[in-house]
Amino acid sequence: MYKNQIYQKSLKDLNTFSIDVTAKKIVFVRSIKSLIDICQKCYSSNIPYIILGEGSNVLFVENYKGIVIINRIKGIKIQEKTYYWLLHVFSGEKWNDLVKYTLRMGFFGLENLALIPGCLGSAAIQNIGAYGLELKNICQYVDIISLKNKKIIRIEKNLCKFSYRDSIFKHKYQKGYAVIAVGIKILKKWNPIIFNRLLKNININQINPYTIYNEICQIRKKKLPNLNKLGNAGSFFKNPIISKNNIKKILSLYINIPHYFQINGSIKISAAWLIEKSNVDKIQIGDAAIYKKQKLVLVNQKTANPKEILMLAKIIQKSILKKFNILLEPEIDFINSLGKVKLLTKIS
Ligand code: FAD
Ligand code: EPU
Repeated sequence: MYKNQIYQKSLKDLNTFSIDVTAKKIVFVRSIKSLIDICQKCYSSNIPYIILGEGSNVLFVENYKGIVIINRIKGIKIQEKTYYWLLHVFSGEKWNDLVKYTLRMGFFGLENLALIPGCLGSAAIQNIGAYGLELKNICQYVDIISLKNKKIIRIEKNLCKFSYRDSIFKHKYQKGYAVIAVGIKILKKWNPIIFNRLLKNININQINPYTIYNEICQIRKKKLPNLNKLGNAGSFFKNPIISKNNIKKILSLYINIPHYFQINGSIKISAAWLIEKSNVDKIQIGDAAIYKKQKLVLVNQKTANPKEILMLAKIIQKSILKKFNILLEPEIDFINSLGKVKLLTKIS
């Protein structure tokens, strides 16, 4: 039947939450041709499909009735321009492998996004971000393919509608499209992105791309759970954005709330702090719990099922709404038996 098909039905090792759900079939694709072939077979036999990278930003809420396509389309092509390097990176490359590769090559600028799990395709869809850098700052274009007519379309960065953990690939180009490659632009002149925490352990004179990479790896290892020990999908919720008009009120009510000014004058506040202050952080539902060192991360301690994780998330949302009048929005994607589904968008 399908080339590259694996008759392994459990998705436990293919989602970082380590949820033990099944799929009808799991297929690893290593070329654009096999991606198109399998998608077209799904269309003609009316079988649902979903494309995954490393499954580090999803929660399967039940067994999946369709085919899970694992993207392993790899390759990096380098072009040298006068002032920058342009890397054409296929979407199945792992993000952190790219960061390490660029450091080895002497191309600097990706180091603030060290150690983020996942593949290049999802990095663009999600506009990944950490420590003062977002993918949108280094992305030149995103190549997508229409899985219906096989047409490849290049979306230049200014048309990608990148914003906080969002892009056009979550909206207009979601259904029926796959991200196949991302153009990464790395300036030859290195501009370090320095944040307060970095200077705690590194002397300003010792700052170089490698010390930044290593320091961020240390910070992340201390703060975030080890994926080999505790299932999780990173931040479960987004940090809420408070509009200009409401900033005064929030900051006067909660003087200590960590907040970050945005370009448009709004502020992003820490959802982890809100969770910590709402006295729910010790609640556990079965094996679903809140990670003690980073309250925005929900963990599967061993055998949590999706219902337990959703129940815990609902309790968090409800108590924050009650105490702060703020509705936390999920950061991760939910997948039910037929595909992506919006959950936890309102309190029921
Ligand atoms: P997946 O979970 O496999 O997929 C995510 C979504 O994209 C799904 O809806 C999937 O269907 C879709 N998709 C995937 N590939 C394609 C494709 N080629 N074409 C079309 N659709 C596709 N994120 C941050 O931004 N910053 C962080 O600091 C950060 N830290 C994290 C730390 C931990 C420990 C974990 C577990 C996660 C963290 N994340 C962070 C979240 C996550 O790593 C990112 O969202 C990442 O980009 C997801 O990549 P993935 O390949 O695993 O995506
Ligand atoms: N804080 C608490 N309690 C906690 C954790 C944090 O009060 O349990 C407060 C602290 O004051 C801390 C501040 O919140 O200084 C910020 O915490 P942190 O640096 O851990 O960042 P975050 O806002 O919680 C965001 C991203 C992360 C990204 C980090 C670093 C979101 C939803 N999350 O987390 O991304 O790695 O900043 O830039 O924006 C992800 O998207 O999955 C993710 C992990």
